[in-house]
Amino acid sequence: MLRPVLYAVFISSAIALPETGWYPKYHIAPQHGWMNDPNGLIYFQGFYHVFWQYNPAAPQWGLMHWGHARSPDLLTWEHLPIALAPSLPGDIDGAFSGSAVLLNETLTLIYTGVSENGTRQVQMVATSQDGVAFEKLGVVIGGNETNFRDPKAWWQDGSWYVVIGAQTADERGQVSLYSSPDFFNWTPQGVLAQADPSLGYMWECPDFFSLEGKQVLVVNPQGIQSKGEDFQNLFQTGYFVGSWAPGGNFAVERGFRELDHGHDFYASQTFEAPDGRRLEIGWLGMWESQFPENASGWAGMLSLPRELTLSDQGDLEVRPLREIQSLRTERLEVPQTLHIAPGGGVAILQNISHSEVALDFKLHNSSSNSFAIQLTKESFERDGGAQVHVDRNCSRVFLERHYPAYNITRSSRSVAVNLTGNLSLDIFIDGSSMEVFVNDGQAVMSSRIYPDAELRTFLITAQNGSVAVDRLKVWDL
Ligand code: FRU
Repeated sequence: MLRPVLYAVFISSAIALPETGWYPKYHIAPQHGWMNDPNGLIYFQGFYHVFWQYNPAAPQWGLMHWGHARSPDLLTWEHLPIALAPSLPGDIDGAFSGSAVLLNETLTLIYTGVSENGTRQVQMVATSQDGVAFEKLGVVIGGNETNFRDPKAWWQDGSWYVVIGAQTADERGQVSLYSSPDFFNWTPQGVLAQADPSLGYMWECPDFFSLEGKQVLVVNPQGIQSKGEDFQNLFQTGYFVGSWAPGGNFAVERGFRELDHGHDFYASQTFEAPDGRRLEIGWLGMWESQFPENASGWAGMLSLPRELTLSDQGDLEVRPLREIQSLRTERLEVPQTLHIAPGGGVAILQNISHSEVALDFKLHNSSSNSFAIQLTKESFERDGGAQVHVDRNCSRVFLERHYPAYNITRSSRSVAVNLTGNLSLDIFIDGSSMEVFVNDGQAVMSSRIYPDAELRTFLITAQNGSVAVDRLKVWDL
């Protein structure tokens, strides 16, 4: 499955590259070259390890390697040498996505090897004693499939399991399940889940884990048609909730729902932190999007690590990793209620580049039915930029962006939110990303943004009435 080349020319780092201020400070991004999916998330010998789909040769998708970084705290990252490069007959056309486990004290990766011009996908294993240098042990699940990739493995009740993204004969997305006593000899355990015809022709990067006594299946379907405000991206990341035990079927209790409601979130992976938290990292990107940072020699970044919990109603709750708070330097605190009058915008701060903005709105004290938090010059309508727009008429929060200078046309994504009581927004900005957490876990929206220096003023605007901001805090991170 080869992807179209977006940009033919790689600008070498020897040439002076434009300084855009887009490179993130507290997110993982490639130092040069292209990044997509996060892979192999694991805690091993005192470090969190993150790998990713990586093309070191150019800031566009190409021959896939595994990039690698580690961190003692999920906050500061040390980039390490490439972990996996195509070298064997089975992975000569690419080392595609996969996961990591701890096998007899050894860091063990299971990943998809691609060969025969991208038409053959098999599952392969590599191990490392020190978490830096990897030795490939070859193919463990073979076959002749074209769409059979992205193994996510775990240990449960005395056995290894792996879920693999696949396709039915009549081209619907599917998740295949295998089990193994030793991680090397795998036996098919049938189909764990399958798309009905409306849920896509291929499911990439499955993830399967238990949370609060339920079982969550995350899949990344290709080919879902957009439906109203839902499924607006080219491909989706979403989840089912149900129950499962080894040997049994996955009984779905809640159908497919999107995990993130922004423009750029895909192929997320979760892992269990040593303290038991279920953490998730996604690719802050989408296939076939513009990646204007590639003029600076790099393309793609990963999301903030997020903490996942399940509400009593069976909704995934997504919160930013709590450790991020330790990066905060206070820039502004407005503890008293701030009244934004109808009409023009109120400029709060300039030069918002690597920051967190937390706002609480008192909606019963606000007469405006349409207000926005903008990152722009003076006006989002006129100058472009990004805005979080709250529309009380339709009870939705929109994330909208417009960067005509980089061929990014105006578009919005949105999520339904109950807007009768209070509304809290926790917005993370890091060079060229915006992640908006709504109502402490209720929803998250993530998009890449491409502000030039003059498009970094943070404004609040209100229409048809005033809005009361109960608490406003800004930190630099
Ligand atoms: C998802 C994906 C995976 C594949 C990888 C290739 O974004 O298409 O299915 O393993 O990217 O880079």
